[in-house]
Amino acid sequence: MDIVLSGIRPTGNLHLGNYYGAVRSFVKMQNEYNSFFFIADWHSLTTHPRPQDIQQSARTILAEYLACGLDPEKATIYVQSDVPETIELYLYLNMNTYIGELGRVTTFKEKARQQPDNVNAGLFTYPTLMAADILQHRAKFVPVGKDQEQNMEMARKCARRFNNIYQTELFPEPQNFYFGNEALKVPGLDGSGKMGKSEGNCIYLCDDEKVVRKKVMRAVTDNGPQEMNSPKPDVIQNLFTLLHIVSDEETYKYFDEKWNDCTLRYGDLKKQLAEDMVRTLNPIRERIEEYKSNTELLDKIARMGADKARESAAATLREVRKIIGFRVY
Ligand code: ADP
Ligand code: TRP
Repeated sequence: MDIVLSGIRPTGNLHLGNYYGAVRSFVKMQNEYNSFFFIADWHSLTTHPRPQDIQQSARTILAEYLACGLDPEKATIYVQSDVPETIELYLYLNMNTYIGELGRVTTFKEKARQQPDNVNAGLFTYPTLMAADILQHRAKFVPVGKDQEQNMEMARKCARRFNNIYQTELFPEPQNFYFGNEALKVPGLDGSGKMGKSEGNCIYLCDDEKVVRKKVMRAVTDNGPQEMNSPKPDVIQNLFTLLHIVSDEETYKYFDEKWNDCTLRYGDLKKQLAEDMVRTLNPIRERIEEYKSNTELLDKIARMGADKARESAAATLREVRKIIGFRVY
């Protein structure tokens, strides 16, 4: 069975963008692939989080993964820092990766601009740690957003180069994977392109009904349709895209027609959008609360995931050590 792997950094709660863009695909994939889904807590160290926040945020994302429907019986769900084998592979991959190519990664350049006082080596080698995450399980498919394209290219380079240097076929070249053919981009409510933590425009899975309604009602709009059948400006298109994602087709059509014949009232559209978001989010939020209050269960699930992930990674590392010329015990 083909192997799928993906991870999310625990830098805050999951939002609708993470859900529709990533986690919902994970949930579908766990039925069809040998899947590994993890929490990339080592990667989050590049921005120096406080120790007390690290365990807490890993547990939060784990609870959110489970609440969305990830099933520890079907997929291997684990925390990156529970699998030390990753670091050994990270070290080997770093030996074959050149500073020139790491320096050209746009996410690195961007981060270096955002945090000029903290351009650390971890940030620089972020792509090789990501490659180690993937290659340790010899994953073939990686469901991630478009923004990860360059990191994925580096992961493929790492696989190819290792195979070439040692004349082996150990690592398959991992491919980006979009569950529904193309990457889904969930827009923000502020008229900006994408919903994202750093954009500060998110509806979080843990937001309660009141908060969701308030955020939706405050979404940016304009002064309404002026001409029959006119194209929608970006801010309005965003609302329609969201409606398309959370509502049924009939509802979407109803509001689309209203737009086209210039009778649309944004208040009605927002009310419907909020209603449908609340309907999707309520059961998820309730399950998040349940899982979060059961830290014993969360820790048990994380331990189980770590055991499975370590077993898989250790098998690869045994091969890697042999290939490189190290002793294998
Ligand atoms: P954020 O942008 O909030 O920091 P991340 O960059 O950590 O989120 O992304 C985690 C995962 O969620 C990635 O696979 C990414 O592609 C996906 N994702 C994040 N925001 C969106 C969005 N607005 N639409 C679709 N997918 C998204
Ligand atoms: N870089 C990814 C992000 O920011 C998170 C991540 C780390 C990841 N390691 C990975 C994703 C391995 C897929 C595979 O979203």
